[in-house]
Amino acid sequence: MREAFLLEKLNERRDQQAFRKLKRVVGLVDFCSNDYLGLAGKHSGFGQPLVSHGSTGSRLLTGNSTEAEELESQIADFHQAEAALLFNSGYDANLGLLSAVPRKADHIFYDQLSHASIRDGVRLSFAQSTSFRHNDMDDLEKKLSLHAGEGEKFVVTETVFSMDGDFCPLERLSVVCNRYNAHLILDEAHALGVVGNSGIGLSQSMELHDKCFARVYTFGKAAGAHGAAIAGSATLKDFLINFSRPFIYTTALPPAAILAVKRAYELFPTLANERNNLSMLIRSFQQAELKYEKLLSSTAIQGIIVPGNDAVKEVAMKIREKGMDVRPILYPTVPKGRERLRIVLHSFNTAAELGQLIACLQ
Ligand SMILES: Cc1ncc(COP(=O)(O)O)c(C=O)c1O
Repeated sequence: MREAFLLEKLNERRDQQAFRKLKRVVGLVDFCSNDYLGLAGKHSGFGQPLVSHGSTGSRLLTGNSTEAEELESQIADFHQAEAALLFNSGYDANLGLLSAVPRKADHIFYDQLSHASIRDGVRLSFAQSTSFRHNDMDDLEKKLSLHAGEGEKFVVTETVFSMDGDFCPLERLSVVCNRYNAHLILDEAHALGVVGNSGIGLSQSMELHDKCFARVYTFGKAAGAHGAAIAGSATLKDFLINFSRPFIYTTALPPAAILAVKRAYELFPTLANERNNLSMLIRSFQQAELKYEKLLSSTAIQGIIVPGNDAVKEVAMKIREKGMDVRPILYPTVPKGRERLRIVLHSFNTAAELGQLIACLQ
């Protein structure tokens, strides 16, 4: 990875004696945490947590733990990355990455269907930004060529799109990024746990993870938990610890959340049957003849286009009256005329349940 621009700023911090490092403090009297009444129980005489499982502070103060550091190593190993850093949510991870890394002279290129957390990260960044047409590599290439020669370039996209359920064209994307020396950032939120052997996600399943500058994994989807991690180089991790405000200035994930994520990562390799069930349901749904346009998707996220906010709300209501929870996605979340039912398939949905849903759409 070309990371001289990160090292430059980290070295400045070192020269100013202001380099931030995660530490673990044990055996000292607590005059530091925010656990004013001792209810989190970590350092107080209560011994046991009385109310919650709070982490008592930010990672750089009292919120760091052996469990958090071990989870980061486990995640880095699982995702074949040099390092990983936890964030409190996927929203925070995208914000924390995009607001901190690209500088004023740099340029971010992002898919026009990117999740709000990517867009908000782009808006918080001082870098210039340009969107490219959804999954359109010619458009991306055209836009990259228009900005050749300017600072660092970053291309951000999702591996599985949250509203359409389609994959990004990762092979071409990595070729184009390589051609224009652009750093590739992937949000694997909807791929983790479900795509590839052991649920490793799209980039590793295509053996393209080494082409990525950073990968974002969120735990609120297939991991059934909460939080997120950014996987990348050790330098990137140091950089985020030093400059990413959504990492620095917030209370760390509580121990219970960390343990839940650890368990999910242990379980992922054992869930081949669940992933197979899910694939079977996806295939049946894709093969069904429906009276509405169905988006092409080989992932758990399926879109049925019902143009018009009122029309899509009515279809969703009728399905809900039959006991099935589907939600309408309205304009302006999606473009006018592309309002849709967003159907999410799960390994635990039965063939009979899917049949009932399909019947409602025929
Ligand atoms: C692609 C994508 N990235 C990031 C997020 C945000 O993740 P979280 O819910 O953990 O904040 C989501 C969640 O909706 C998402 O779909």
